[in-house]
Amino acid sequence: MKGFVMKTLSDAFEHTLQDIYYAENQLVKALPKVEDSANGKKLKSAISEHLKETKGQVKTLEKVFKSIGKKPKGEKCDAIDGLIKETEGIMKEMKGEAKNAALLAACQAVEHYEIARYGTLREWAKVLGQSEAHDLLTEILDQEKAANSKLTNLAVSEINKG
Ligand SMILES: [Fe+2]
Ligand SMILES: [Fe+2]
Repeated sequence: MKGFVMKTLSDAFEHTLQDIYYAENQLVKALPKVEDSANGKKLKSAISEHLKETKGQVKTLEKVFKSIGKKPKGEKCDAIDGLIKETEGIMKEMKGEAKNAALLAACQAVEHYEIARYGTLREWAKVLGQSEAHDLLTEILDQEKAANSKLTNLAVSEINKG
């Protein structure tokens, strides 16, 4: 946020909302490539299902902006750009079961990032008295948690059989 000093919790909330809106839009672009690159039906289908949810989350975030009287706006988020860049590295440089395990781990890193962000955002929404935003953000948080659990189960049952 160039030239703008954030002072209030409301500023921090709005800024973090813009970050995650940018992040979800970047994920909508990145996930089809990850799906293509993954081996194995189960990982591919987990990614494609979460891509659908992610598109829905973009719409839900637009409702959150509306509920606080703001226009949806993305703010470049270095954290998600870094996570996506790492995933692109895996797609380029790895093969076989190593690639699949690393892609699954990369997807989980993204889910954990999102869980951290939405956990914070929905608590801030509550403190700010934005109950509609709180409920919408909780809806997304629950989807991210479910996506992460699904990936954990897949890692345990399919990938890290050791
Ligand atoms: Fe998401
Ligand atoms: Fe997610």
